[in-house]
Amino acid sequence: MDKKVILSGIQATGNLTLGNYLGAIRNWIQMQDEYDCYYMIADLHSLTVRNEPEVLRKRAMQVLAIYLASGLDPDKNTIFLQSHVDAHTKLNWILNCYTYMGELNRMTQFKDKSAKHADNINSGLFTYPVLMAADILAYNADLVPVGDDQRQHLEITRDIAERFNGIYGETFVIPEAYIAKQGARIMGLQDPTAKMSKSSTNLNDVIFLTDSPDDIRKKFKKAVTDSENCVRYDKESKPGVSNLMTIYGLIEGKSMDEIEKEFVGKGYGDFKNKTAEVVVKKVQPLQEKYYELLENPEKLREIYEKGAKKARKRANEIVNEVYRKVGLIVDE
Ligand code: TRP
Repeated sequence: MDKKVILSGIQATGNLTLGNYLGAIRNWIQMQDEYDCYYMIADLHSLTVRNEPEVLRKRAMQVLAIYLASGLDPDKNTIFLQSHVDAHTKLNWILNCYTYMGELNRMTQFKDKSAKHADNINSGLFTYPVLMAADILAYNADLVPVGDDQRQHLEITRDIAERFNGIYGETFVIPEAYIAKQGARIMGLQDPTAKMSKSSTNLNDVIFLTDSPDDIRKKFKKAVTDSENCVRYDKESKPGVSNLMTIYGLIEGKSMDEIEKEFVGKGYGDFKNKTAEVVVKKVQPLQEKYYELLENPEKLREIYEKGAKKARKRANEIVNEVYRKVGLIVDE
C-alpha cells in the first residue's frame, strides 16, 4: 500500500524556537519512516509582512538548516522551498476563485495579524489561508500536522476541497489534522497562557534554538511560576510550572506523574535548573550541526534543489488535473 502523504511547513519569518522544535519538527522526525513527507519552508507566506530581502533569504536557509540539524533526513523526506514550486501559486489563484470573502473574514488569525500590522493590511494577509490550502491540496496530502493556531486554516482547506470536489468530481483528498502521539503546545516562559512565539517582543518569553547555553539557563531561571513551590501538573492554575514540566517531559521521555515524583520536596529552583540542563543538552548538538550546515551553502542548495524537483513532480500532476477540470488548456 502507498504510504500516506504528509505536508507541513514553517514560515521563514523569525528564528525558530524550542516550541517549533518540540511542537512540530520533533514529531516530523518520528514520521519520516512511516509516511511520505513533504516539508517546506513557507517563504511565500513570509511576504505577507515586510522583510529585508537579504534577511528573508538568510532566514529561509536558517530554517532549512534547522530542519536538517534536528534530524530530518533529506533522503527520506521531500524538503523544499515553497517558492520553488510554481504549482502552489497556480493553484492558489484557482482556489481563490472557490473561496468566499465571508469565509476568509472569519479567520481569527487574519483579525489578529491585521491588528498587529495595522499599517499593512494587504490582501495577501487576507488570502493567506488560500495559499495554505494550495500548499496542502497540491500534494493531495492526507495528513497535516498543525498546531492549534492553524486548525481553522485546515478547516477552510477542507471546505474548499469539498466544494471543488462537489463541482468537478473527486479531485482532492480531504486532508485531516495530524495529532502527534506526544503532541504539545509549548507556551511562553513569561506568559505561559500564550504560545511561545518567535515574534514575541519579550525575549525572555522565548527559547530560540540558537540561544547560548547561558541565555537558556538565564531564561529558565526567570520563567514565571507560582507561589506554591510544588512541582505539580495543573494547566489551569499552574500554567507556568505545567509548561516547564511539558518541556522537561518531552525531552526526557517522562510522564507528568514521573516528574512530580522526581521533584517531591524540591523547590522550583532545582526544577528550573534541571529543565534548563536537559534543554541545553538537547540543543547543543543541534546547534553544532546547524552552524556547520550554514557554512556549507552548496550542500544546502543541493538538498533544496533535489527537494524541489521531487515536489514539483507530484504537485504539477495534481495542478494540471485541476487546470483541465476547470477548463484551462494545459500547456505541457
Ligand atoms: N501557516 C503555517 C504557520 O504559520 C505555515 C504553513 C504554510 C503551513 N503552509 C502550510 C502549515 C501548509 C501546514 C501546511 O504555522
